Amino acid sequence: MKQWCIFFLLALAVGTNGDGFCEEPKGNYPKSVCFNSNCTTAIKNHIKFEFHAAFKYLYMGALFGQYIVERPGMAKFFLESATEERSHAIQMMDYLNLRGIKYGRNYAFGNDLLWKLSNQQITKAELKTLSIASALQEALEMEIDVTKKINEIVEKCSDDFHAADVFTNPILEEQHTGMRKIQGAIQMMDELKRGHPNNEGLYFAEYIFDQKMLKGEV
Ligand SMILES: *[C@@H]1O[C@H](CO)[C@@H](O)[C@H](O)[C@H]1NC(C)=O
Ligand SMILES: [Fe+2]
Repeated sequence: MKQWCIFFLLALAVGTNGDGFCEEPKGNYPKSVCFNSNCTTAIKNHIKFEFHAAFKYLYMGALFGQYIVERPGMAKFFLESATEERSHAIQMMDYLNLRGIKYGRNYAFGNDLLWKLSNQQITKAELKTLSIASALQEALEMEIDVTKKINEIVEKCSDDFHAADVFTNPILEEQHTGMRKIQGAIQMMDELKRGHPNNEGLYFAEYIFDQKMLKGEV
């Protein structure tokens, strides 16, 4: 197994309209539909966290997909989640473009992307200890954190009705739907494990859960 190398550097520059878009109105572009810089800065800062979530899910999906772990349902779930997070980042960049806001950011991601905080290669023994319940818990905590951050954006964008609207629905709406799904999954895994306090039957419970995940029944 090769050492996982998680270091992504994204250099993004989207949009050609400068921040002067509103200071130098073209034609009759009214001041009242200009953006609020507190709001747009909050959006720009947030995009990094969407990429962070995408990369972390990618990493988690890769771990569950290894033959030692062999949980194809969880691998599928996390890889799909990674795609969804990446699409959130794109959605936000599209939003900035729509409003004519210059977006230029450099992102560096380090080891904090890893699920188990470590810069070491994850060992075969550690792979064996990965539990579905702890992975779901990790995912839920990350989503709660992202939801808090999006609430802060809505607050900072309260004077910009359009931004506040977009970040409330669909974006905040999707956060709550996603969190509800993970909470339900945690509950289902918990029930499957019941009656096996000493890990007896745990692998079988995880196998059943994973198959349900694979078939889209969770
Ligand atoms: C941005 O936030 C600061 C601090 O809260 C505030 O003083 C300022 O008026 C805000 N700017 C705009 C354009 O709303
Ligand atoms: Fe997201």
